[in-house]
Amino acid sequence: MYLTSEEEKMYQGQYGPAVQKSMEILVALGDIYQAEKMVEITSAQISGVSYKTIGDAGLEFLEEMAQSARVRVPSTLNPAGVDLDHWQELGFSKEFTKRQLRIVAAYQKMGITTTCTCTPYLASNLPILGSHIAWSESSAVCYANSVIGARTNREGGPGALSAAICGRTPLYGYHLESGRKASTVVEVKTELKGADFGALGYLVGKEVGGGVPYFQMINKPGPNDLKSLGASLASSGSVALYHVQDITPEYHLAMRGLEVGDVELMTVEESDIREVREKLSSSPRKPDLICLGCPHASLDEVGEVASLLNGKNLDNDLWVCTSILVKAAADRMGYTDAIEKAGGKVVTDTCMVVAPIEELDYQVIGVNSAKAAIYVPSMCGLEVVYDDLENLLYFK
Ligand code: F3S
Repeated sequence: MYLTSEEEKMYQGQYGPAVQKSMEILVALGDIYQAEKMVEITSAQISGVSYKTIGDAGLEFLEEMAQSARVRVPSTLNPAGVDLDHWQELGFSKEFTKRQLRIVAAYQKMGITTTCTCTPYLASNLPILGSHIAWSESSAVCYANSVIGARTNREGGPGALSAAICGRTPLYGYHLESGRKASTVVEVKTELKGADFGALGYLVGKEVGGGVPYFQMINKPGPNDLKSLGASLASSGSVALYHVQDITPEYHLAMRGLEVGDVELMTVEESDIREVREKLSSSPRKPDLICLGCPHASLDEVGEVASLLNGKNLDNDLWVCTSILVKAAADRMGYTDAIEKAGGKVVTDTCMVVAPIEELDYQVIGVNSAKAAIYVPSMCGLEVVYDDLENLLYFK
């Protein structure tokens, strides 16, 4: 793989052991994927933050890296295992939180912004069309490639951290024009709303695996619908990029140069969506905790919850997961107050999957995210109900 003289210096250890180790990781990745060279990046988003997922080995690795490593490009963190400010009132243990705070401190020492969110594009880390970036949260990767039109592979935590430290990533896959072509045309023959978008993503992700779906839809999805669609495409399959005809920025390039027979065809009917929605629920019981914000809620999603709750009293616990930046705006808009008055909480920095919610006293979690419906049973060992927001809320 070709390295510039600056990259060669990193590789040879002239910038210290942390940079050297990072460049070694990038070169190894480049060799595996047959990248010819590196490309400079403008942004990084790093997963591997929750103590629940990385444990003591991850914590020790990060503390060692933080001795000397510093990032070269604006970089943000994925969600952590607790709300960094309100962990105690949510019931998380001191022991877990102590280790979690050490992980976040190590990242911060490396110069990474500790916004701890999977929707960095709503919280100060917003790349521009065509820019090369190294992101690792799969739903954010899908959003960045598809809705923003930036270019990233599905990085692992160490790959994204190495890219942030070196300011480069190997040039292959979704960084190249050739990696961004459609592989399957998906004709959606029914109008979608709410949790239907997650169900569609689940269905198509399972079918296309790591392919690039090209959707033809009756309705025009908004940013929150696309966020939800991408998250489930990336969870049931390993989709990193999709196109929506007439909506996403590169849809007109997705088919260019392709021959008949280069793409598969798939049709989705109303009955397919209904079937997936039923399948994604693992319990018929009333949820005792509703968790919204997977991926982390946008300000208008928090506002929608606030208006549904206004003046009412919840009969189940409720977390609306989001970033600290969106919460600050929600506080000012009075949304947080309305949600808290009804008995819910606006939770920052974490989510229902990467937090140790299995240690709290809940059995059934209500979600409107297909990604959460996939991961809560496997990562937390709890049952889920998957439905539209309005159907999940119970009032006294
Ligand atoms: Fe984000 Fe957690 Fe869902 S990291 S995408 S809210 S599983």
